[in-house]
Amino acid sequence: MSKDTNRLMGHADEADGIEEYDNPLPDWWLGLFWICVLWAIGYTVHYHFIGDRSQEGEFQAEMAAAAVRWPVQDAADVAFAMTPEAIAGGETVYATYCFVCHGQNLEGGIGQSFLDDVWVHGSSPEEVIHTITDGVPEKGMAPWGSILSAEQINHAAAYVLAKNAEALGIPLDQITQGSGGEEGSEGDHEEGSEEGHGEEGGGEHGG
Ligand code: HEC
Repeated sequence: MSKDTNRLMGHADEADGIEEYDNPLPDWWLGLFWICVLWAIGYTVHYHFIGDRSQEGEFQAEMAAAAVRWPVQDAADVAFAMTPEAIAGGETVYATYCFVCHGQNLEGGIGQSFLDDVWVHGSSPEEVIHTITDGVPEKGMAPWGSILSAEQINHAAAYVLAKNAEALGIPLDQITQGSGGEEGSEGDHEEGSEEGHGEEGGGEHGG
């Protein structure tokens, strides 16, 4: 089949004497074009009707696979423990996320100091974990529960509490015991702190 490759469009008069050929497309180009068209039809039929797939379905499948691979840890599932490992882990978390507001040496800044006995939101491990998890957004303390894992939060709490105990001269095991919240002095701190009587309450922490 010979193709007429010299046909002119014939609009030189409209285009300052510039002519244009009206050549047929090359066969290889047309071939690719029709292959693409056929492939698109085949793909559409396969994707939607034979394979019955959808973006939403793929998303759900990926989320399900991710949930199996990285199970969500419930804070309650991860036990808090005042172990040296937890405290060391907490130091890393603190140095990464917390120091900007609470100070390089926990001396405070935008956020509270952890070296005194002033605890606005409670000093038991439960309360501290709760404060870190839910934050105090209106005061500028982020809810870390959506950013850190339950383990990281427990570690951060262990670190903060350990450093606090160290600064106040309280034995570590007292803090773990205090986790039940039965210590009478805990309540005093919270009230005292609001009025800035923290210093006077110093002796109470140890009971
Ligand atoms: C953007 C600044 C900021 C960062 C970062 C931050 N905090 Fe805070 N944090 C605050 C502020 C402000 C408060 C005081 C909230 C209040 O007064 O109610 C606070 C309060 C707290 C309290 C309660 C103290 C109390 O007296 O009861 C704890 C515990 C705490 N932060 C732990 C952490 C930990 C752990 C991290 C790191 C994971 C962290 N914070 C990161 C700003 C911050």
